[in-house]
Amino acid sequence: MTPPPRKRVLSGMRPTGKLHLGNYMGALDNWVRMQNEYECFFTVVDWHALTTDYADTSCVKENSLEVATDWLAAGLDPEKCVMFIQSHVPAHAELHLLLSMITPLGWLERVPTYKEQRENIKDKDLGTYGFLGYPVLQAADILIYKAGVVPVGEDQVAHIELAREIARRFNGFYGKRGDVFPEPQSLLTKAPKLPGTDGRKMSKSYGNTIMLTDPEPVVRQKLKTMVTDPARVRRSDPGNPDVCPVGDLHKIFSSKETMAKVYEGCRSAGIGCIECKSWAADSLVQLLVPMQERRKKFEQNPRLAWDILEAGTQKARTVAGETMKDVRAAMGMSLDYERPEGSFGK
Ligand code: TRP
Ligand code: SF4
Repeated sequence: MTPPPRKRVLSGMRPTGKLHLGNYMGALDNWVRMQNEYECFFTVVDWHALTTDYADTSCVKENSLEVATDWLAAGLDPEKCVMFIQSHVPAHAELHLLLSMITPLGWLERVPTYKEQRENIKDKDLGTYGFLGYPVLQAADILIYKAGVVPVGEDQVAHIELAREIARRFNGFYGKRGDVFPEPQSLLTKAPKLPGTDGRKMSKSYGNTIMLTDPEPVVRQKLKTMVTDPARVRRSDPGNPDVCPVGDLHKIFSSKETMAKVYEGCRSAGIGCIECKSWAADSLVQLLVPMQERRKKFEQNPRLAWDILEAGTQKARTVAGETMKDVRAAMGMSLDYERPEGSFGK
């Protein structure tokens, strides 16, 4: 018996360069699990990077390759999933154009991230056509693979909702002979609150990250300077792991046994923060070492990751090309010569 077809998944990540633990725990660890269960497409969305960083594109390609290399290091397996760079599959742009024709401006102006970013990002002009259309491009990324499931963080849910609305509208206009696009569902990634070294959310812009590529001594050094429960000033003061960023790291990365020692020792002032932090570092190193091992062969031969992306591009282009045939046919704009049914040519 042939197994039932697996549900198709698409997700994307912007080419920010090397990834940190927050990127891993928010998304990548989930993708690594999903590749075993679903038919997965993962794409580095380099065109999305241009919606904000259009003025200087000199690092886009290198950053895309860095991200893909971290994916491979984290355990994405090209035998199990399709990995590619968005701009290498130009059909995304073609579908984006067609979807842009039917997307009402009001839908885009209402997207929460649009308003937020226009207000918060002051160092560049985001009053561009491309930036407003960001979610339309994202919808094209998803719909061109007819993906049913899109694993994303909380901040992206509104974008997936919009993709659903665009799919519905497209089907309504052109789906006379059946829906062209399924409506994608977001699969919310339960992202634990991952603190950076300063106790705020781990983020590249705060400079408080632990990188997937940080060698053990760097991880240990970063942990040493990490902030702790402010109530624990002296070694003899009891503390509370529930209000300590190091305690949060333990909750995410440490074993139950270690956790128990942390709670006991911290609350009774039986352990010092230095010892507690060294245990947290142990847990992180245990996670990172296998990734760094896997990364070595890609570092020694950078061509390797590029070849994997090229192979992924071929597969993605095939699927995207099939969808574009359906799209063109549904819109009555296929490439085949057909005798028009109307008045002329009779
Ligand atoms: N907008 C997403 C982000 O900022 C990235 C993205 C682009 C994406 N296209 C996508 C995510 C398609 C999921 C599906 O994280
Ligand atoms: Fe934080 Fe650990 Fe120090 Fe307690 S002992 S305050 S959990 S670092």
